[in-house]
Amino acid sequence: MHAMAFPIMKLFRRNPGLTKYRVSGSSSKRLPDRVKIVEVGPRDGLQNEKTIVPAETKIRLIDMLSDSGLSVIEATSFVSPKWVPQMADQMEVMKGIRRKPGVSYPVLTPNLKGFQAAVEAGASEVAIFGAASELFSKKNINCSVEESLQRFEQVMVAAKAAGVPVRGYVSCVLGCPYEGKVAPAKVAKVAKRLYSMGCYEISLGDTIGVGTPGGMSEMLEAVSKVVPVGALAVHCHDTYGQALANILVALQMGVSVVDSSVGGLGGCPYAQGASGNVATEDVVYMLHGLGIQTGVDLPKLMDAGAFICHSLNRRTSSKVSQATHCKL
Ligand code: HMG
Ligand code: MG
Repeated sequence: MHAMAFPIMKLFRRNPGLTKYRVSGSSSKRLPDRVKIVEVGPRDGLQNEKTIVPAETKIRLIDMLSDSGLSVIEATSFVSPKWVPQMADQMEVMKGIRRKPGVSYPVLTPNLKGFQAAVEAGASEVAIFGAASELFSKKNINCSVEESLQRFEQVMVAAKAAGVPVRGYVSCVLGCPYEGKVAPAKVAKVAKRLYSMGCYEISLGDTIGVGTPGGMSEMLEAVSKVVPVGALAVHCHDTYGQALANILVALQMGVSVVDSSVGGLGGCPYAQGASGNVATEDVVYMLHGLGIQTGVDLPKLMDAGAFICHSLNRRTSSKVSQATHCKL
């Protein structure tokens, strides 16, 4: 039996009503049957670590995550090593992972230089990352929002020629560390530009985790008027403990792609004070409790979380892992 399987099974035996949480009646129609989880731990989770995590640890983490049934694992970033030293081993990581058939390993590419290096490293999917806030764009990628979109157009042209699918991020969709509140119309404008230039999916990032379900719903309403909801993902950091509630609102509004990070690791080096992403373990637990399929084996995912938290010598931020560890 799998090492972590017993506590989880015990948990479910003690709570046989868990599956009853599947929403019934008219509201169940508004929840997707299946959700695609985009695991961002190896990138968003580790980019913010102060001490350099060895490439072999990153590789082992990614391999454990792919063994857990996740179908998308954001592996690393092809950004400047002066800006984010933690991702300087991107080539080694991409060469070292065991690529599981059916699993996609996208990487971040801020510009053409990053895209070319990513393709050289064997990346078969990339992500460009813009923002709804001018000041955040300047701090994070050293250019205005408009300049960033022009750079992304160049990446897009090269990606189309190489047959590489591109995902687009919009950061600061519910608040900015430098500008405060961000208007939904600004988010919609950037999301529309990224979608129009050919991004197959737009991930809406609550970079500093300040959003609430009210703000999420208002923002999604604005964005889904200009980008089909089927092409949207939500990317929630959990600084204020609102991430699961925000995700549930997004699911109710038709979103079926959720970004999360194993162990709740993460943050952005250019958004001080922001905590990690919502923990993948907690998202999977909630989704399975709602009767929504993810394809993820929760005990195996928790093993990956335990591995990386042990390697980083820190306590997991996943409430599900904490509860199971205590054998509640
Ligand atoms: P810059 O300094 O304006 O770039 O940085 P530059 O074009 O003037 O070049 C300066 C130097 O960087 C040159 O090297 C270039 O060759 C090099 P030098 O001549 O000085 O030796 N360079 C590169 N090196 C490697 N890879 C590249 C690259 N491009 C230039 N791709 C730049 C502009 C975009 C490069 C920089 O600002 C950068 O790398 N920023 C990345 C910041 C980052 O990774 N932030 C975290 C990810 S975003 C995030 O976490 C949010 C998200 O999770 C969603 C959410 O939560 O909202 C996605
Ligand atoms: Mg993030």
